[in-house]
Amino acid sequence: MTTPRPGAKQPARIATSVLAADLCYLAHEVQDIANGGTDWIHIDVMDGSFVPPITFGANMVEAVKKTVDHFLDVHLMIEQPEKHFKEFVKAGAELITVHQEVCPHLHRSLGAIKEYGIQCGVAINPATPVEAIRPVLDLVDLVLVMTVNPGWGGQPFLSSCVGKIEQLAHLRQEKKLSFQIQVDGGIQPETGQLCFAAGADVFVAGSYIFGSKDRKKAIEDLRQAVSPEAVTARIN
Ligand code: DX5
Ligand code: ZN
Repeated sequence: MTTPRPGAKQPARIATSVLAADLCYLAHEVQDIANGGTDWIHIDVMDGSFVPPITFGANMVEAVKKTVDHFLDVHLMIEQPEKHFKEFVKAGAELITVHQEVCPHLHRSLGAIKEYGIQCGVAINPATPVEAIRPVLDLVDLVLVMTVNPGWGGQPFLSSCVGKIEQLAHLRQEKKLSFQIQVDGGIQPETGQLCFAAGADVFVAGSYIFGSKDRKKAIEDLRQAVSPEAVTARIN
């Protein structure tokens, strides 16, 4: 294995985003990806202010929780997220991720999530440098590197974000930290593999998985692409 993935935890995890599900058939859609082998379920909460669309709230977390037993990863794309932590935890969130861009008191926001006894994550938009979250890297369980500007599913992957994954992976090793690196936006086997080689551990995919007729195969193909063997085979 020639590719460096400094401090990476194995194996890679796949987090399917329900944003791309057919909400008329939510229980069926969620069961389908659970049977297909997704590791986590990613729930995108948007407020119509930090990002243009409004999606769903804690009721969606509760509905998914009732349907499957998977790890629920809640991505808050909302202003003043602290106001809502309690309701998301009560609904079943096991990881809450907030955006650096809307949290002027980031230590306080992340600490408030930890007080509920769940994992906390910090997300950065494509234009936000790693430097902006450096002071909190020892507090977080996960760093989410957005690979599109948040707001919609189905946008093209921004390869300019890959350097930030490498930067974070090196910082993780250098400072002996253990946060996971998550990527979100335009992830499919090819882009996932680029991120994996750079050091990412958790791969959020919405339209790639829900847009496939065979979701199980889509998940398997992504899992295969984000493996050390696939990266080595590509290099050699
Ligand atoms: C984008 C959301 C993503 C979205 C990804 O703002 O945070 O989680 O669901 O969708 P795809 O995989 O379609 O880019
Ligand atoms: Zn997301």
